Amino acid sequence: MIEVPVEKAMKGLEGVAMELDDCAFPLLQGMVLTSDANVGFKDANWCLLIGGKPRGPGMERADLLKDNGKIFIEQGKAIDKNAADDARVAVVGNPANTNCMIAATMAKRLPAERFTAMVRLDGNRAKIQLAKKAGQPVTNVSDMYIFGNHSPTMFPAFHLAKINGKPVPQVITHMEWLKTTFCETVGKRGAAIIAARGSSSAASAANALVDHVHDLVTPGKVHSVAVKSNGLYGFDPNVWAGMPVRTTTAGSYEVIKDLPLDEFAVQKIAATNKELVEERETVKSLMG
Ligand code: LMR
Repeated sequence: MIEVPVEKAMKGLEGVAMELDDCAFPLLQGMVLTSDANVGFKDANWCLLIGGKPRGPGMERADLLKDNGKIFIEQGKAIDKNAADDARVAVVGNPANTNCMIAATMAKRLPAERFTAMVRLDGNRAKIQLAKKAGQPVTNVSDMYIFGNHSPTMFPAFHLAKINGKPVPQVITHMEWLKTTFCETVGKRGAAIIAARGSSSAASAANALVDHVHDLVTPGKVHSVAVKSNGLYGFDPNVWAGMPVRTTTAGSYEVIKDLPLDEFAVQKIAATNKELVEERETVKSLMG
């Protein structure tokens, strides 16, 4: 676990370590607490990049780009230098998609597809909103994919999702609700939590990261992850965009291609792609 080299922060990290010990996790065999990224990433198989300045009330995640972008440049370099040859990286620190692109660009030794950013929190948020609207348990909602940026422009693709195996628009027939209230509620949920709690999501984000990694190491799982788009679904080839993937072998995946997109979906994807391209342009100079 890596913290900034500040006494108070390192003390806090000791508290986190105590809590992790107290969870009695069966797989937790040891911890290294450090403020040196070279030590923290040494031989790591999974690097979970959750650090960064969190956003406060009234901010968008992209407002963090200049400050957090620098962190991900350094982390990308440290991962490249120290992590195991089979290392996988999951980025949570915001703006997650573009930070992931930055880290991947810095880590030349590891293939770009090993770098993923988390849209699972959005996927989980979307599922619970649909479940509540339909008066169904959340376990009855499936095929909920998130396209694009982890930001209000993301597209929770309700036209592909199912409730009890039935397409969502056949269960929730209020199309205007799906296109507006639903998309906005999911897209702005992070801000709603900040407004309520005074600080950004913690438990739900941690839970989503557990889901993200769990599904990426479980062959056959179909889920949403932000990956290098390579031009799929109309995205710019060099942005990291949420898309549906199927885990093939532990840690590897293939993007599920050619799911049908209607006119609304195409418009939404174009908007979130535009934002991702703009974010990339903003950090271009940082990356040198
Ligand atoms: C979230 O979506 O809750 C997190 O990305 C934190 C934030 O800034 O919204």
